[in-house]
Amino acid sequence: MKKFPDGFLWGAAASAPQTEGAALIDGKAPTTWDKWFEMNPEKFYKGVGPKDTSNVYQQYAEDVQLMEDMSLNSYRTSISWARLLPDGKTLNQQAVDFYRNYFVSLIEKGVEPIINLFHFDMPWWLMEKGGWESRESVEDFGYYAKVAFEQFGDLVHRWTTFNEPIVHVECGYLFEFHYPAVVDFKRAVQVGYHTLMAHTQAVEEFRRGKHTGEIGIILNLTPVYSKSDAPEDIKAKDMADALNVKSFLDPVVLGHFPTELVQLLKENNLLPATETGDKEKLAQTTIDFLGVNYYQPKRVQAVNQPAVPAKMPSDLYAEYDWPEKKINPYRGWEIYPEALYDIAMRIKNDYKNIPWYVSENGMGVAEEERFVDEDGVIQDDYRIEFVQDHLAELHKAVEQGSHCFGYHMWTFVDCWSWLNGYRNRYGFYRVDIENDFKRTPKKSSFWMKTVIENNAID
Ligand code: FCB
Repeated sequence: MKKFPDGFLWGAAASAPQTEGAALIDGKAPTTWDKWFEMNPEKFYKGVGPKDTSNVYQQYAEDVQLMEDMSLNSYRTSISWARLLPDGKTLNQQAVDFYRNYFVSLIEKGVEPIINLFHFDMPWWLMEKGGWESRESVEDFGYYAKVAFEQFGDLVHRWTTFNEPIVHVECGYLFEFHYPAVVDFKRAVQVGYHTLMAHTQAVEEFRRGKHTGEIGIILNLTPVYSKSDAPEDIKAKDMADALNVKSFLDPVVLGHFPTELVQLLKENNLLPATETGDKEKLAQTTIDFLGVNYYQPKRVQAVNQPAVPAKMPSDLYAEYDWPEKKINPYRGWEIYPEALYDIAMRIKNDYKNIPWYVSENGMGVAEEERFVDEDGVIQDDYRIEFVQDHLAELHKAVEQGSHCFGYHMWTFVDCWSWLNGYRNRYGFYRVDIENDFKRTPKKSSFWMKTVIENNAID
């Protein structure tokens, strides 16, 4: 048996916009997702938009009971900014009541709520004034964070500011997967910079308010591996790493930007606008703990014809298909558990061995219904194998001193995935969106319960 440390957090992660539903009721204002769906429903898989997500707003008590059945001791979700402060200033009491009841019910079942503030769900009123492109977003986010800490600080002791901030930067301003779907590297960098400053503002509010507990951030650390040891491939790898990994990781843990990133942005005329005092603020707001989302690595090589200045990250490095790659046949993503060990050791060696946890890991499966047996149970042995393999790598790193305190799967109950809707399923529980959002356990939920109860894998 491979034992994990006592008190290890076992759980699952989700977010408000992907699970709550109730998108436009009880005072919640629209987000960019609600508006985008209204404008272009055809962009969303099978026309299923954010208002139809897994109905947690009504069904959370049932989910909390299922978490207890599965012996989870922690659960991460987010607060919807547009629900809590529909116009950015006025407190929505119905939102306060909902979240308080939800968090209390988790705590009563022995499930610690870990609460995130922003998971890609920009309120529409803020988007109308430029979203993260506007410096005002920093103050606005700070105010939202302050209200959240005041309203729920007695119940929540582990907070995170953002989930995968690089994703709304890339998807919104480079790759057209999120609203406003523009393609502009310079604007993308500015959005990233303001997001980071919004994060520091929230950390500052948390410490100023003397709230109990800890504050961190959730980053998708996509380890980058180069095709070869040739200097141009190594350079491509370093650029990809600076842009995708160190860009957020260095400032939040070490308190400053990596010099190679600053240099890279400078050479390509991409430096963002900053304000006096930003540098000091970054240095003073380093986090207490880190959440790491890991799905698959990035494999890169040098680009054939570099364009200077770069108009897209693909002018700086090219992705390539590793011939030995093991693929999730039901989703197309690479499966490479070894990267989790590499991440863990990098945090130990280069990032002060800061306490961290796996805040998301998981396996998406398209049309998972095909694996239902005659009793209605999804036979997801592929997911069991996936988790087992990742936990083995994690265990090795913990044995070698990496300070990892938990493992959360994406996700508990199948949830809505942005433009992909309910196409790819990730949950321990299956949800039937055509049948009152009925939840049914998958085989992996029984397996995971044993892992949790043993605090160990075989
Ligand atoms: C992550 C996101 C999460 C979910 C999973 C599959 O990048 O944090 O919202 O969509 O991917």
